[in-house]
Amino acid sequence: MNPETYAQLEEIAARYPEARSGLLPMLHLVQAEEGRVTADGIEACAKILGLTPAEVSGVATFYTMYKRKPVGDYHVGVCTNTLCAIMGGDLIFERLKDHLGIGNDETTDDGRITLEHVECNAACDYAPVMMVNWEFMDNQTPESAVQVVDDLRAGHEVRSTRGPRICTWREAERVLAGYPDDLADEGPAAGPASLVGLDLAHDRGWTAPDGAYARGAVGTPAGGAGGHPEAEHAASARRIEDSPADVKSEEDPADKGEGAQ
Ligand code: FES
Repeated sequence: MNPETYAQLEEIAARYPEARSGLLPMLHLVQAEEGRVTADGIEACAKILGLTPAEVSGVATFYTMYKRKPVGDYHVGVCTNTLCAIMGGDLIFERLKDHLGIGNDETTDDGRITLEHVECNAACDYAPVMMVNWEFMDNQTPESAVQVVDDLRAGHEVRSTRGPRICTWREAERVLAGYPDDLADEGPAAGPASLVGLDLAHDRGWTAPDGAYARGAVGTPAGGAGGHPEAEHAASARRIEDSPADVKSEEDPADKGEGAQ
């Protein structure tokens, strides 16, 4: 490990009151510099943090974002968790395996693409979802997924369906280590499909309970039920029933053209 990387690992550890809290970003920096979590990287993290190599290795092998094998320039993760799978994720994954000639967690011979099936990325409203270096590719099809990997292999600029340019895996790892690339604000924070519930609540005048009420830290609020779950549920149902905006409740938000998928 070069001295500059070692110094940056020390710099990350120094950000935290408890130095060992820096282990996760430190491992991302190791990946950014060495293309995977190497034995040298584990030794360096352990030495800086006063841990054993076995303790660092235990962390690196627990979390799936840490890789012990070299990763290609672009890590393509196809969500095959339940919703994405039935919406086409399984088909996309099979198509990419055939097209690239590799299996799960393998890399193409040119070192460009590593393919992996991944778990839910909290983007179910845009299923089926694919991630490229942890940027979202929403509402994919087998054909669009093939186009994405072909463009990446050809060196063409590829953008997330949410806007940001796709950088290399090592560049993305450096951001995860806490060295921003100033691109975090590219693209929207949340798309229309993710905001349907919020729009509905606004339309109907629904608001979240205040903090004290939600925690049950104060006595029975006006119209409330004193913190008993079943009574709270009944009281909540009554409030919804009584909501003056409920006259609109026959409307299906999907009919309002607000982006329901
Ligand atoms: S199931 Fe694929 S993003 Fe949630």
